Amino acid sequence: MKMVKMLGIAGSLRKGSYNKAILREAVGLVPENVELEIFDIEGIPPFNQDLANGPPERVKELKEKVRNADAILFATPEYNFSVPGVLKNVIDWVSRANGENSWQGKPVAIMSASTGLMGGERAQLHLRQSFVYLDMHAVNRPEVIVALAAQKIDGNGNLIDEHTKGKIKELLAALVELTNKLSEK
Ligand code: FNR
Repeated sequence: MKMVKMLGIAGSLRKGSYNKAILREAVGLVPENVELEIFDIEGIPPFNQDLANGPPERVKELKEKVRNADAILFATPEYNFSVPGVLKNVIDWVSRANGENSWQGKPVAIMSASTGLMGGERAQLHLRQSFVYLDMHAVNRPEVIVALAAQKIDGNGNLIDEHTKGKIKELLAALVELTNKLSEK
């Protein structure tokens, strides 16, 4: 069976980020023949269209990783009912230069963790809206929405909620299925 290479990106710079925690957890839950590499968005500068044709090294590195990935997995916080600026910033960099959208055609899945009751579902919807323009293929189900994250992730950043672990496993399997389907074409 062909190896599936996934790239995981969390939309938080916070050291103790719950979204980084669920992404780390996902690394240990991937199906056979899948590797999930995490890219830390620390050090990505604010997008400047003047630099779109010659982006900074850290952005080049990220673009390269996205280009080489078979599938993308985002773990996003929700800030003010939307996607954090740092994640949108990454999305914008990788979508340029004009005609060099490295997200193009990639299968993608989203997870979100929030300390609130809604678990980041509004951020997920906003992210999906960007996927339309980026021409990405999003997994619709299952939804991995980690509400009340502080009760499900312990002080060491470990996910201690079995139900959520199960949902992450299901999501990873669905992402692999979509990836394989798209590569058959
Ligand atoms: C938040 N938080 C939040 N939570 C939520 O469910 N809906 C929201 O709209 C917001 N808005 C919001 C704005 C800003 C500026 C901050 C800093 C926080 C709370 C958020 O879920 C919480 O801080 C998470 O812990 C952020 O994710 P990480 O950093 O733990 O991955």
